[in-house]
Amino acid sequence: MSTGLSETLKQEVLKRRTFAIISHPDAGKTTLTEKLLLFGGAIRLAGTVKGRKASRHATSDWMEIEKQRGISVTSSVMQFDYNGHRVNILDTPGHQDFSEDTYRTLTAADSAVMLIDSAKGVETQTKKLFQVCRKRGIPIFTFINKLDREGQNPFDLLEELEQVLGIRSYPMNWPIGMGKQFCGVYDRKQTQVELFQGDDHREIKVRKVSGYDDPIVKEIAGEFFYDQLVQDLELLDVAGDEFDFEKVRSGELTPVFFGSAINNFGVQTFLENFLQLAPTPTPRKSNEGMIEPLNEKFSGYIFKIQANMNPAHRDRIAFLRICSGKFERGMSVKHVRVGKDIKLAQPQQFLAQDRDIVEDAYPGDIIGLFDPGIFRIGDSLSQTGGVEFDELPTFSPELFSKVTVKNALKHKQFQKGVDQLTEEGTIQVFKTIGFEDMILGVVGQLQFEVFEYRMKAEYGVEVQLSRMSYQFARWLVGDDIDPGKFRINSQLVKDKKDNYVALFENEYALRTAMEKNPNMKFLEMAP
Ligand code: G4P
Repeated sequence: MSTGLSETLKQEVLKRRTFAIISHPDAGKTTLTEKLLLFGGAIRLAGTVKGRKASRHATSDWMEIEKQRGISVTSSVMQFDYNGHRVNILDTPGHQDFSEDTYRTLTAADSAVMLIDSAKGVETQTKKLFQVCRKRGIPIFTFINKLDREGQNPFDLLEELEQVLGIRSYPMNWPIGMGKQFCGVYDRKQTQVELFQGDDHREIKVRKVSGYDDPIVKEIAGEFFYDQLVQDLELLDVAGDEFDFEKVRSGELTPVFFGSAINNFGVQTFLENFLQLAPTPTPRKSNEGMIEPLNEKFSGYIFKIQANMNPAHRDRIAFLRICSGKFERGMSVKHVRVGKDIKLAQPQQFLAQDRDIVEDAYPGDIIGLFDPGIFRIGDSLSQTGGVEFDELPTFSPELFSKVTVKNALKHKQFQKGVDQLTEEGTIQVFKTIGFEDMILGVVGQLQFEVFEYRMKAEYGVEVQLSRMSYQFARWLVGDDIDPGKFRINSQLVKDKKDNYVALFENEYALRTAMEKNPNMKFLEMAP
């Protein structure tokens, strides 16, 4: 291969940062995303940024259910350029009813930005998403938001990161005052103060100081907040963690930034630091070992499939994360699972209504591929044909329903619908042992509604869902697995690959079963 490509490839890879924002609804993800895009002058918008607020009608209204609920079901990708970098933000649904899709999207990111409301601290959805990132060992950057409102003491927030999430932190800046008294932040690295001032608190001034003992800091902060700041910073210097780049990179230490997204305060500094510290596209594991982004042969894998973006057509869009080489429109690649060559003629970078055709793309980028039903989640595409990326993890569902078809004659369509929605990763399917009753497992309640709606709208099948009281699913590995062992507040079922899975009504039932079967493994993900 020509050195021309390798040089270009190197430049393009070095430029890229691909990350996801993890947060609990209302922490300010939409607001922060918009500010970031504004700095970059977004070149590609996926349209869901304001989906929830319905101010930008794009992909998010592809399905009636979204309109009815006023939320965005799907997650998508945004891209912008800033200071010579190309940034890909993977959006994740912000509503409580998030799904496995949200988790899977995180596998396509190389780092995560954890957004926390300074008044609420670490909330449940953040915790769940954090754990997925933790398992992958990706770097996590924290932005503590809404400093213009009364919030928790900054030390308590750092303590919470450690206690609840088990991650050490390094504050990159430190707030001076809070709420109505919020005057700005002290940047520990640059030794400068960023002032939050002006009548509407929107004017931001940056003053370079020699250190926090510089007299100007006292003048700005006032005696009370100055004393507080000095005390806090001294405590941090003595008792806080040291900044350790390696630990940041391995996800053991999170750099923390304080700010206020709505006032665009601290966002630019955050972005600039993030771009410096966050990794370029990282290698991915495959049957041929680690696939490096600089490998000149194109490869990638599908982490998400989204159906019926355009309700007039029954097409699906498969989202592919590029792992190596250069993507060029019209190129032929091997669809490894089915062993066929396919031409990538209609790739879309994003999913706004005026779909944008991509001419080329590089590792770290996400492209949407037109899918006439040939792709499954986890499929690998590659130029050489041999590369198969490691299977994507299956995440443990938390809600379960028994499903039956209202009209038995529609069984064939029902099966087809179930198969396709399983492939898309909307639902997981289990069968009871003996009777072969079908049980659906999902991560968020909305997925049941989506399932019901789409079975009717797309396959003409009315289904009956009866909620079951199980809350946990564990894949079992062992020699003596037997339904008799799972009778009390639990049930033994099989997944679609015939793995044994036990469902439990509560933690007590799960713990008891684990204690009674010490030789059995209870896995949170399919083996
Ligand atoms: P989400 O995507 O994480 O769900 O959060 P979103 O950005 O929609 O923000 C949730 C609410 O928090 C919004 O208010 C938003 O304006 C507010 N917010 C975001 N950042 C800040 C901040 O730095 N300071 C303060 N004080 N508020 C912030 P809302 O009233 O729910 O919606 P809206 O009517 O303002 O759109």
